Amino acid sequence: MPLISLVGSQRPDSFNASAVTLIERALKSLGAAAERAEWANLALPLYSQVIELEQGLPEAAGDLRSRIKAADGLIIGCPEYNGFMPPLLLNALTWATRNPQGHPDLSPFRLKPCLICASSPGSLGGIRAAGHLATYLLGIGASVYPDFFLIPNAFTTLGGNDESEQRKLSGRAEVIASGFLAQTRLQPG
Ligand SMILES: Cc1cc2nc3c(=O)[nH]c(=O)nc-3n(C[C@H](O)[C@H](O)[C@H](O)COP(=O)(O)O)c2cc1C
Repeated sequence: MPLISLVGSQRPDSFNASAVTLIERALKSLGAAAERAEWANLALPLYSQVIELEQGLPEAAGDLRSRIKAADGLIIGCPEYNGFMPPLLLNALTWATRNPQGHPDLSPFRLKPCLICASSPGSLGGIRAAGHLATYLLGIGASVYPDFFLIPNAFTTLGGNDESEQRKLSGRAEVIASGFLAQTRLQPG
């Protein structure tokens, strides 16, 4: 099954989307495909138990659940908002932990290998949000790859024209993608 990738930003020039793209490219060069979950298909209301009771599981949330469940691994691009993951991402993940009967169902995440990518204009590269996301994913039963793909100083690293910087980023993406791929192949069934 292909891997699935999800970026917690809708910005057209999202740095986190760029970080995930580097990983996707590296995976492709290693013979593994990752399919991006597009936000256009993820128009989800803000999760609330009242909405869930009245309207049921949104179709987009059901699709996301199925795609995560079927995938060999999940790659997440996690922007940092005030040291935490953005509401957009937390909302999508929250819906994905619910089943159509309105009950908690963590089966899509059970031992799911997850790779966290983060990028920010700051010098920490979103590591605080990445750490919170790792804790969240472990809490819902996922298996988090221990190395994050972090890109600090995004305006100069991702946004600049420095070719040696781009090569360094691609090289790091390849190392992480290859380690992550090995983890996905270690999972049972
Ligand atoms: C509400 C808000 C809070 C933010 N808080 C942080 C932060 O705590 N640390 C950080 O490095 N950047 C922070 N930023 C800047 C984001 O890292 C920056 O906007 C980044 O480009 C968002 O990711 P994206 O490019 O993938 O959309 C914040 C941005 C917003 C909108």
